[in-house]
Amino acid sequence: MIDPLPVSRPCLFGKELEYVEQALRSTHISGTGSFVDRMEALVAEAAGTCYAVVVSSGTSALDLAFEALGVAAGDEVIAPNFTMFAPVAALLRRGATVVPVDADDTWNMDPDGVEAALTDRTKGIVLVHTYGHPADATRICELARRRGIWVVEDAAEALGAQLDGRPAGAFGDLATFSFYANKVVTSGEGGAVVTNDPVKAARLRALRSLCFGDSWAERFVHTGAGFNFRLSNVLAAIGCAQLEHLSEALASKRAVAARYRQLLGGVSGLGLPPESARVLHSYWVFGVLLPSGRDRRSVADQLWASGIETRPFFHPLHRQPSVPPVRGAFPRSEQLSNRGLYLPSYVGMAERELNRVVHAIHRALAT
Ligand SMILES: Cc1ncc(COP(=O)(O)O)c(C=O)c1O
Repeated sequence: MIDPLPVSRPCLFGKELEYVEQALRSTHISGTGSFVDRMEALVAEAAGTCYAVVVSSGTSALDLAFEALGVAAGDEVIAPNFTMFAPVAALLRRGATVVPVDADDTWNMDPDGVEAALTDRTKGIVLVHTYGHPADATRICELARRRGIWVVEDAAEALGAQLDGRPAGAFGDLATFSFYANKVVTSGEGGAVVTNDPVKAARLRALRSLCFGDSWAERFVHTGAGFNFRLSNVLAAIGCAQLEHLSEALASKRAVAARYRQLLGGVSGLGLPPESARVLHSYWVFGVLLPSGRDRRSVADQLWASGIETRPFFHPLHRQPSVPPVRGAFPRSEQLSNRGLYLPSYVGMAERELNRVVHAIHRALAT
């Protein structure tokens, strides 16, 4: 059998090996070193913020962000109902009450729904730029500003994406990123929190590493109960090599998406991903909505039999077994999670690989 096409595959096309060797030879292989510093500068530049604090994963970035904001048990926080689970898990770990809001036609949290969900108890809003299409952070941040509450942007899927000409990550009080191997650029494992606020940046830095004291005398005097969320300098070396090619990686993802659009545009009943005129989409994944009534599992099985890997869309919060029951109807999330499937799309995907996927979809939907 020919090699299956994976939904994602990292593309190591820069100076990864050279930088890793430099990191190893430097003996700075733990959480400090020149590649950690350089990666922070590259992430801040890409996110359009003054500061970036790199950490061990996108999940630890969220834990760090919520700790820095002081999210506490019982705090009401608005979050998308249709989302990757990590930001919600981080809120649940703190005992926060998650108030889910249904998706809009960009597959992101609906700003009108956010406005309707705000109460006197709302402490903050987490927005997620799902699949790399920025959510309406402009409007959501304006709603939050009027109420004096915080916004965290989970931009794990959207490094390099833009809304109204501004980078994803530049809108919220804090924003988080992931550099897991399936992201547009990767450090293997890794994440970051970005901000424009020097006080928050210092707090994030302290919390990342157990709040050790700054001076020799006070090294073991801890000003808070921090974590060890440090990113190894060896992984930061990979991250730097990747971030140097962020614009090529994005261009490749966008070219793959554009080609899928051309080749799948005419397939009856197949929903293609939205792309609002206000955004530059990073196309972290290329997801489609199967024609209604099609059995997703059997289409996925047929694609797999042709050597094409797929993934179902996220499972919505109101149906997650680990989320306390929530009231309300979430028709868009239902539709997305029932019909959505994402296809192989990776940096450097060849035309012949993409054609294989397209032919397999035509065949599977013709039966
Ligand atoms: C929106 C979102 N947030 C957070 C994460 C978690 O990142 P990590 O896997 O690096 O912990 C992911 C991972 O895919 C994600 O998609």
